[in-house]
Amino acid sequence: MGMELLLGISTLIIALIIFLGFRSNDKLDGKSLKLPPGNLGGWPLIGDTIPFMQPHSSASLGTFMDQHIAKYGRIFRMNLLGRPTIVSADPEFNRFILQSEGRLFENSCPTSIAEIMGRWSMLALAGDIHKEMRSIAVNFMNNVKLRTYFLPDVDAQAVKILDSWKDNTTFSAMEQGKKFAFNLMVKQLMSMDPGMPETEQLRSEYVFFMKGMASIPLNLPWTAFRRALQSRSAILKIMGQKLDERVRKLQEGVQGLEEDDLLASVAKHPHLTRDQILDLILSMLFAGHETSSAAISLAIYFLQSSPKVLQQLREEHTKIANQKKERGETGLNWDDYKQMEFTHCVINETLRLGNIVKFLHRKALKDVQFKGYDIPCGWEVVPIISAAHLDSAIYDDPQIYNPWRWETIFATMTKNSNVMSFSGGPRLCPGAELAKLEMAVFLHHLVQRFEWELAEHDYPVSFPFLGFPKQLPIKIRALK
Ligand code: HEM
Repeated sequence: MGMELLLGISTLIIALIIFLGFRSNDKLDGKSLKLPPGNLGGWPLIGDTIPFMQPHSSASLGTFMDQHIAKYGRIFRMNLLGRPTIVSADPEFNRFILQSEGRLFENSCPTSIAEIMGRWSMLALAGDIHKEMRSIAVNFMNNVKLRTYFLPDVDAQAVKILDSWKDNTTFSAMEQGKKFAFNLMVKQLMSMDPGMPETEQLRSEYVFFMKGMASIPLNLPWTAFRRALQSRSAILKIMGQKLDERVRKLQEGVQGLEEDDLLASVAKHPHLTRDQILDLILSMLFAGHETSSAAISLAIYFLQSSPKVLQQLREEHTKIANQKKERGETGLNWDDYKQMEFTHCVINETLRLGNIVKFLHRKALKDVQFKGYDIPCGWEVVPIISAAHLDSAIYDDPQIYNPWRWETIFATMTKNSNVMSFSGGPRLCPGAELAKLEMAVFLHHLVQRFEWELAEHDYPVSFPFLGFPKQLPIKIRALK
């Protein structure tokens, strides 16, 4: 029996190798194409996925990319997740890919991510249904809502987190950033309050959910992937109960519900099914809290090693706070936020060098030509968006954390197409302004109340999700 099983597996592997080999050769030989250089070899099923995904400092492209760029140039082909893929570290090509969404290229989420996030997750969708969901997200975070609903809540949640920090203690800054961003999102999405049992249950399930997203996608009893699928069900159950409450209230004729939270406003959406609504909320929770908490951790990390930046930032926020005191105002308002000019330089520089999202997944909808290369229809395309941020032809001394560079950039350009932290084109992150607001408000309170240093050596790593190997442990001291 054991022998038969072994033979079966070996035959399957050989068949796969032959299949993959033929598939790539067909493409090459069938039409005399000028494909980008590279090779489509590697392991069966996964190709060169493992070396491609190797963790590395997020302020670099990693050894795999460096070696491949040195050998083949900035656009090359490889076998990623068993599929022929064009990888691009060419900022111009990457912009072209993102701008041509829906015409020449389209989002192509790996099956394993779609399985955990849900088939209706915005991150997995393309086409008309994606547009419909996206317009809900854009509307949820429009400028008016940021001023009226989000700003007071961001302010309150930041103060709440910092109130819990005790003088002369050491803890994980990353954990705290996550707590802040999670509390904010669950409140805005579903009116769930921090510290309540169901919020805590949601948070603990979410931890497993997230671990599965970054794991090898094997659905076996002991794997992180299987555990994440179970967490997905548990999370959807909690969200489903919340949705039922909204639906019940709507049936009872309760008015003005849509002002409460996103769930209430989509509960009566005429075109969306229950599954679609729940996947939408889950993808918003994921997209809206993993990233902005990483951004806050990165700011904490870069600032502790840049005393001059911290000093200027502190001066900016102390000035704003003093002016408010003189006017007898409490709570940040939009005018205060607009005064945070140096803070915006710090935010941009943090996102540039921190590279929260390293790459995106797309596929070619048609045969496309770029810089003399053929990109065959149906091939996967992976733009490495961090490449523009680390390019010395675009940013002087790209490895140096220098927020002042943005004073010149802001003064000379209305739009900087080399900022790719939030992607670009029709799928540009709808949460970009909210994320900046969260960072600015958190920093406003942080720099006035605390000093901090790293308790242990740590640094930002692309796993490829951004993380800190030691969870960014900091030692804080309260300022008098
Ligand atoms: C610094 C923080 C953030 C970064 C770096 C970031 C980055 C990104 C990136 C790179 C994408 C991929 C777009 C693509 O596929 O082309 C994206 C999509 C998205 N982000 Fe963000 N994001 C951040 C914060 C947020 C926040 C706070 C929200 C709030 C809910 C949010 C919601 C979304 C949504 C809904 C999408 C899907 C958009 C679509 O498919 O059309 N993001 N984000």
